[in-house]
Amino acid sequence: MYPGPVVYAQEGDRVVVKVTNETPYNATIHWHGVRQRLSCWFDGPAYITQCPIQTGQTFTYEFTLVQQKGTLLWHAHISWLRGTVYGAIIIYPKTGVPYPFKYPYEEHILILGEYWLKDLIQLERGVLASGGAPPPADAYTINGHPGPNYNCSSNDAYKIDVVPGKTYLLRIINAGLNTENFFAIANHKLTIVEADAEYTKPFTVDRLMIAPGQTMNVLITADQPIGRYSMAMGPYMSARNVQFQKIPAIAYFQYAGARPNSLALSAQLPSFNDNLAVKTIMDGLRSQNLVNVPKEIDTNLFFTIGLNVQKCRSRNPRKNCRGPNNGVFAASMNNISFIRPNISLLQAYYDMINGHFTEDFPGVPLKLYDFVNGAPNNIPNDTQSLNGTRTKVLEYGSRVQLILQDTGTVSTENHPIHLHGYSFYVIGYGNGNYNPQTAKFNLVDPPYMNTIGVPVGGWAAIRFVADNPGVWFMHCHLEIHLSWGLTMAFIVKNGNGEMETLPHPPADMPKC
Ligand code: C2O
Repeated sequence: MYPGPVVYAQEGDRVVVKVTNETPYNATIHWHGVRQRLSCWFDGPAYITQCPIQTGQTFTYEFTLVQQKGTLLWHAHISWLRGTVYGAIIIYPKTGVPYPFKYPYEEHILILGEYWLKDLIQLERGVLASGGAPPPADAYTINGHPGPNYNCSSNDAYKIDVVPGKTYLLRIINAGLNTENFFAIANHKLTIVEADAEYTKPFTVDRLMIAPGQTMNVLITADQPIGRYSMAMGPYMSARNVQFQKIPAIAYFQYAGARPNSLALSAQLPSFNDNLAVKTIMDGLRSQNLVNVPKEIDTNLFFTIGLNVQKCRSRNPRKNCRGPNNGVFAASMNNISFIRPNISLLQAYYDMINGHFTEDFPGVPLKLYDFVNGAPNNIPNDTQSLNGTRTKVLEYGSRVQLILQDTGTVSTENHPIHLHGYSFYVIGYGNGNYNPQTAKFNLVDPPYMNTIGVPVGGWAAIRFVADNPGVWFMHCHLEIHLSWGLTMAFIVKNGNGEMETLPHPPADMPKC
């Protein structure tokens, strides 16, 4: 199936998914946004919490949906396989618990994606071997369909049939690989009621920006004249000089009574680099209720994120050094470019196996080069990062504040940063370099997210309480950036109580 099957559940459910790998490649599945309370073994990122499931083998994921409801997604978490291996997770509230909005007439899932004609594992290998930037996706898709802008799909666009006057809940998921996206429906307003599976104050917009890994629930009323209205999904990409897919995917929002082939009103998307449109959406995201943001902090972290260039070390530079200035693209956090270990970090940590990682991920950037905001006109020849598998250790229960700062040594960009095992409060964000004297924080009703698009050349501040023991990946959810090393892992230590301790691994854990 493409997209894959939907996991339907209810808050508090125990979810058991038996995964058999029938692909010719190693595979794992990640339950994006599921907080995996005391179940880090089942989180899914390959070589972080588990060894991959090999071809023909089976692994059973088992976890409880503790205090979580709403829309999330699952996806493969190895190489670029998530580009086509993904599906929705729908978690309904407990029986009898009402929604904070009037429950609509009907609900629909819309998964935005990118389609690639090439085998995705080969594609990643090829891009990494070239040292250069990836090619654009072959198509954007809505529920697997590119729509009429693409020849291959001109007659099978995805369509939602609606009854005039009724209200619908759309569960929108971005499962795309390498670009963030705008989404709009012609002549209709969208009211955001949930972001990353947490209720928000209702906020009405003409379009959404949704980053890969993010989910949004919106209400839409069929209150326009009977007709066909297009739904469009296209790129939000602020980096310069990169190739990316620019042709929107199209689907239809079609009223009962409309002539099936009548001309559809087309949806207007912002231009691909419209940072202001993105800010407007971000400004409106507020938690539904007053929330429990940690007021005091005991761990204050500052991570730079961004792309950099490494020196070409290939014997065949013309072929393998296609990055800026004949170098090789890399990406890093605090100037450390992550190297994937050969066994699972969680296993290495749990069994105290030496030699696979270090615990010295810096709390502030290494001063290898000065970070600047705004992309420079002249890209430096070498903004070398250090390569390593470094982790940051957090004591159980520590209250963490983390400033994420985009850097512009190669190109500034909006990076969707995703933290596994937690949601975090997005207490502030802004343009340029973070300045503690002038930064304003919202400690009252900030959104509680699992993926945050850090503004282009700007910063975002997040807070969370490290009360879920295990090894938790944090990375840019643009897949090419993950491949280039824009990632790190937190180790959260056990506390003293039984409910503060990671249980033993399951017996059928795959071996590397
Ligand atoms: Cu949705 Cu580590 O990923």
